[in-house]
Amino acid sequence: MPETSNYKTKRRVIISGSTSGLGKEIALGLAKRGWTVAGFGQTKNKVKALAAELGEKHHIFQANVSCDDSIASAAKQIIEQFGPPHLLINNAAIMNSPAPLWEVSAKEFDEMSAVNINGVANMIRHFVPSMIRNGNGIIVNLSSGWGRSTSPNVAPYCATKWAIEGMSSALAQELPNGMACIALNPGIINTEMLRKCWAEGASAYQNPKEWAKMAIPLIERINTGDNGKQMTVT
Ligand SMILES: NC(=O)c1ccc[n+]([C@@H]2O[C@H](COP(=O)([O-])OP(=O)(O)OC[C@H]3O[C@@H](n4cnc5c(N)ncnc54)[C@H](OP(=O)(O)O)[C@@H]3O)[C@@H](O)[C@H]2O)c1
Repeated sequence: MPETSNYKTKRRVIISGSTSGLGKEIALGLAKRGWTVAGFGQTKNKVKALAAELGEKHHIFQANVSCDDSIASAAKQIIEQFGPPHLLINNAAIMNSPAPLWEVSAKEFDEMSAVNINGVANMIRHFVPSMIRNGNGIIVNLSSGWGRSTSPNVAPYCATKWAIEGMSSALAQELPNGMACIALNPGIINTEMLRKCWAEGASAYQNPKEWAKMAIPLIERINTGDNGKQMTVT
């Protein structure tokens, strides 16, 4: 990772799942507004494409959020070279193939929990101590309408997003002054995830670029007074 002119920038963000959908638009939007972005996804060609689009002031890499060792070593490298993040956005998640709960295999359920729940805990474990030492930081955990309500055929996803709401609320009670953690329901947006869930029906919803016009100002406004809140992009 090269040292660059904004190496000591005041505003640094780390985003999981920044190679597609909402995470990608957050990365592009915050970079445009002067943030230094570190972010990752799993798919090599998407990582390369976003790295090229953002340029060398930012750091886009390949990692699996559900692998604690992978996140530990990425966090060490990012914190050493960029400094602790001011904003940690836990966005990476997956959706189950719609089916009644009893038809969901143990493998699919385990993978979903590992990415959607453990992945968020892994990020918090390896980035938050540096934010605490730095005396500030905002943590945004992407939740869902299905983290506050339920529907048939998405029980595994609902279970993980209700977990995110609980984890966010408890973490908010643990953080020292100067920090905040919130759970963010982004609304309904036409991304790969929504298409997996609703197929053609997804096209009735806004695209991620339109969504980012509302979401990014909201994310930038989150402050310590919001600690513990359930927020929604509307
Ligand atoms: N879209 C909606 O309507 C909606 C509604 C409510 C909540 N949400 C939440 O919003 C967030 C973003 O969703 P989205 O719709 O933008 O999803 P998406 O288009 O499917 O993008 C998901 C991102 O997460 C990454 N990812 C998945 N598994 C990963 C792993 N194991 N390690 C690292 N990165 C991983 C993907 O990277 P690769 O492609 O490289 O795997 C991709 O960059 C999620 O938390 C989702 O639950 C979305």
